Amino acid sequence: MKRQEECQSLAAIIRGLYLTATKKSWIVCRDSGEDPDPPVVPREALVVDIAPAEKFLWAAQSAESGEEQKVSSFRFDEEAAKILHEAFTAWEFERAPSGVEAATRTARVRNFPSCIAVKKGGSGETLYWIDRDIDAVGKRMKGRDGTLLEVTSGPWAPKEQDSSPELDASGRSNVVKDRIALVTGGAQGFGEEIVRGLAASGALVFIADLNGDGAEKLSKRINASEKRIAAVPVPVNVSDEASVEALFRTIRETAGGLDLCISNAGVLRAGSVMEQGVDDFKFVTDINYTGYFIIVKHAARLFRQQSLTAPAWMTDIIQINSKSGLEGSNKNGAYAGGKFGGIGLTASFALELIACNIKVNAICPGNFLDGPLWSDPEKGLFVQYLKAGKVPGAKTVADVKAFYEAKVPMKRGCTGTDVMRAIYYIVEQEYETGQALPVTGGQVMVH
Ligand SMILES: NC(=O)c1ccc[n+]([C@@H]2O[C@H](COP(=O)([O-])OP(=O)(O)OC[C@H]3O[C@@H](n4cnc5c(N)ncnc54)[C@H](O)[C@@H]3O)[C@@H](O)[C@H]2O)c1
Repeated sequence: MKRQEECQSLAAIIRGLYLTATKKSWIVCRDSGEDPDPPVVPREALVVDIAPAEKFLWAAQSAESGEEQKVSSFRFDEEAAKILHEAFTAWEFERAPSGVEAATRTARVRNFPSCIAVKKGGSGETLYWIDRDIDAVGKRMKGRDGTLLEVTSGPWAPKEQDSSPELDASGRSNVVKDRIALVTGGAQGFGEEIVRGLAASGALVFIADLNGDGAEKLSKRINASEKRIAAVPVPVNVSDEASVEALFRTIRETAGGLDLCISNAGVLRAGSVMEQGVDDFKFVTDINYTGYFIIVKHAARLFRQQSLTAPAWMTDIIQINSKSGLEGSNKNGAYAGGKFGGIGLTASFALELIACNIKVNAICPGNFLDGPLWSDPEKGLFVQYLKAGKVPGAKTVADVKAFYEAKVPMKRGCTGTDVMRAIYYIVEQEYETGQALPVTGGQVMVH
């Protein structure tokens, strides 16, 4: 395990401490290293020496096989989590940090460190800064401001009457407020709708897309309208593991953890099984099926680290699947096959990952007829189907659209809002995992 990875896993473990102590989402950011080396540790910081965990890293470095390395790095995470948990609990309940008055504990307010300095064997401090959002954590880091956090809500605070907005249907979007989310393929289409919905509901959203320019432009527009850093663009190819590893490094470095991972990136290349090239089949499968596996692999590792210190904090992985994951799609086998497979992965991952309190579900939308895949005036499916004469008697794009709307019992295409409602439901639900939820206007029903 490289030093950088080790520091990043510590950020997730530290974030878990705060999730457990406050039942709120936090941003944890490893110091960017502009400080002198060794850094000046703020006097209010909680200083923790994780030297005993280090021996598992050394074992990892000397080990020959990758499997042993993985076991050793998992072991490092576990040992480091124990040490950090003990130090954090002692700080919270037993002693004041040196030179600072005892941590205040009243019925309403509690203090927590805004900076944790992690040492190894008495030296080599790395600072981790903690605050509620990216802007606040950036200011702390820049100003070396270690003043204690004042937290007014948490398991200790007396419950206010009607203080549970999550249970109020009109406030359902509150389930993602302040959460950290990742949306792959977030630059356009359903992904863009989901990114916009999450940002408007108060989440911080990583927009991960092959189209890095598109993700950047969308982030700028969202941040300007939300008047905060609500979106962070990250270029990624979900079918390339090295690229996905880089994506998760960015997430760890920027936010220290994650609450919600939406695997949405997907492509479609239709074709008869008798004619489609194997290259096209593999292209679709690599992104829609293998890409989902790769994203879940790295999201689950991050969620696991966080859960070492936040075992009760539920996290979510949601695949944007399709109604074509529930029924066959004529001359579209590569797409439907990968989507069917995605549901198999979802159910299998759900069985394994619930041990870390990670729910894994799929949403199966109907056709997003107003989205770019269908409505793009040059490359959209309506234009393609019109030219190919796929809809008998259709003379215009509107005729093709009307044909597809008529197939839906609710007589319209699926929208971003329909998908957002399903996301809120899944995140809010605490007794469901491994499911595939159709959002199809009745076009695909339970069988
Ligand atoms: N559009 C529909 O009617 C519909 C219906 C049901 C399900 N879906 C599913 O919804 C998801 C989004 O579809 P859409 O119609 O919005 O697609 P879209 O083509 O409009 O957008 C897909 C986005 O994914 C990105 N992307 C493509 N390959 C990528 C890769 N390898 N790595 C990272 N990003 C990549 C693209 O750049 C693009 O921004 C897909 O999984 C799709 O199967 C779509």
